This record gives sequence, C-alpha cells and structure tokens, in this order.
Amino acid sequence: MKVIITGSKGQLGLEIINQLEKINSKFMRKKYDINSTTSSSLNITNLEDVKRIILNERPDVVINCAAHTKVDLCESDIENAYKINALGVRNLAITCEKIGAKLVQVSTDYVFNGDSSVPYREDSITCPNSIYGKSKLMGENFVKQFSSKYFIIRTAWLYGEGNNFVRTMINLAKNNNKINVINDQFGTPTSTVDLARVIINLIETEYYGIYHGTCKGQCSWYDFAYKIFDTIGLKNVILNPISSNEFKSIAQRPMYSVLDNFMLDLIGMDTFRNWEDALIEYLKK
Ligand SMILES: NC(=O)c1ccc[n+]([C@@H]2O[C@H](COP(=O)([O-])OP(=O)(O)OC[C@H]3O[C@@H](n4cnc5c(N)ncnc54)[C@H](OP(=O)(O)O)[C@@H]3O)[C@@H](O)[C@H]2O)c1
Repeated sequence: MKVIITGSKGQLGLEIINQLEKINSKFMRKKYDINSTTSSSLNITNLEDVKRIILNERPDVVINCAAHTKVDLCESDIENAYKINALGVRNLAITCEKIGAKLVQVSTDYVFNGDSSVPYREDSITCPNSIYGKSKLMGENFVKQFSSKYFIIRTAWLYGEGNNFVRTMINLAKNNNKINVINDQFGTPTSTVDLARVIINLIETEYYGIYHGTCKGQCSWYDFAYKIFDTIGLKNVILNPISSNEFKSIAQRPMYSVLDNFMLDLIGMDTFRNWEDALIEYLKK
C-alpha cells in the first residue's frame, strides 16, 4: 500500500511513520511504501504542488498530518490558518478524488463550542469559537464535499514527539516552583501512539466517515499536569489550580471538549487506552 504523509515532521506525522516502518520491518517485507513529505517538499496550500506530487506518485492513501496548530496565533494569522487548515485540505481532497485515493484528515475537538456537559458524538452540532476551530471545520467540510473515500478523525489534547502540554509543564518546572494551571476546562489527553495505531488500522478498511478518536476518560488541564508531575516524581513544584478567567489566552477555548469515540466503538476499532495509562508509558520513555 502506497501512503503519502503530509506534515510528517509534526507530532502525529512522526508517530505514524514510526509505526508504519515498524510494521514493515516486522513483516520483513515492504507492506507500506511510505512517502513522508514536509511543508518544504509538499506545501499543501499550493494546489499545483499537491497535484504534481499526488498525481505522479498515485498513492492508495494520503494521511494529512499538516495543520496550522498554533491556536492563539491563528487569531491574528487568519489568512494562513484558513490557507493551511481549509484550502490545503481542499487541495488534497480534490486531488485524492482524481485518483481514487483514500484521504485521512485529522481534525479537532475545537470544532465544538464546549457548552456541553456530556461527551460530544460525531453527529453533535459543531460551533467553533476560535479561528483554529473554524478553519479546521471548513477543512472537514471540504473533505466531505470533494472526497468520496475519507476518514475524518477528530482528536484532542495531543502529545507525542514535539511541542505539547507535557513538555511545556516539564520545562516550566525547571525554572518555577509554582505553576498556575487551568482547572475548569475539561478534555482528554491523547497519545499520538494510540491515534496513529487507530489511523493505520482504519486505512486498511473501507469504513469511511467521521470519527472521534481520543484516549478514554477525562480530566482538567490541572489534573493532567498533576498526573505528569506525580508520575515523574516531581514534588518540589506547587501546582496552583486557577479558572479560565484568571488565565487570559488569545483564542477562546472550549470549556468542555470531551469526545465520545462512538463510531469507532460501533465498528469495533476503538483501541484507545485510558489517558492515564498512555501518559505513564509516554513519560517512561
Ligand atoms: N496538537 C494537538 O493538541 C491537537 C489537538 C487536536 C487536533 N490536532 C490535529 O492533529 C493533527 C496533527 O497535529 P500535530 O500536533 O501533530 O501538529 P504539529 O506537531 O504542529 O505538526 C503540524 C505539521 O504541519 C506542517 N505544516 C504546516 N503548514 C504546512 C503546509 N502548508 N504544508 C505542509 N505541511 C505544513 C508543519 O510543518 P512545518 O513546521 O514545516 O511548517 C508541521 O510539521 C493536526 O491536524 C491538528 O490540527 C492536534
């Protein structure tokens, strides 16, 4: 199976490649012909680039891991946010359709406004608060409009190899003995290891559609930070729970963005671990 990965130097891209390569070496044959692209080798905002590479390579699957993920920056960098998260995705959808390739689009919990008190399902009403969420939702809509073989997977609070909340907390602890962490926003920390595994399983199927894909359980950012420090045995830093009102951020974030992996569960492919188990394994490494 020939697979093109966009944004392959990002957190999720790196883990997907890692797992595809492991599968190749386990089976002692090249099950996956992997083409990892970056923003310099394949800028998804450029339709000509996208066409040139995808029509030439003729992959069976394109996994789009490219995105403008700096949520606060998106509020001022609006044009780029829409170019990458919406138009770039449209370019991939149109081009994949020309050759009948499957398209995996990774989306976000930020397509919801966070007013719910129960986990969001795939058919819950979307209503993003931020430019990031709005641009990602437009990307989803383009995929639905232009691709007939798509998997849209909404995930949340992702961490892997790269910049993420876990690394930020550990770095902050090096120079601070007290760290303020928001205690009234709830979601589910999700390991790229679990998400990549589910994506790789999905691309082998024709179970097209929209999915929620996060680890199981839920917590606040404060609970998340507490679990990180507790696991690595960091005791000399005080974690101070604060409200969202006390921590002004540029973009408005959903207060509650827990996702229900309802559709994955229905097709028997929800292999996500509990968020705490996945986090412990990540920290051990
Ligand atoms: N991180 C989270 O907490 C989170 C939560 C929910 C959903 N998601 C979604 O999950 C997916 C993966 O996220 P991630 O955390 O792995 O992202 P990431 O680490 O920020 O990586 C994003 C990648 O996209 C690339 N990129 C940016 N603009 C591009 C362009 N025009 N053309 C090609 N590549 C481009 C970047 O490359 P350069 O550095 O070279 O620009 C970077 O390698 C994204 O769709 C994101 O929206 C993430």
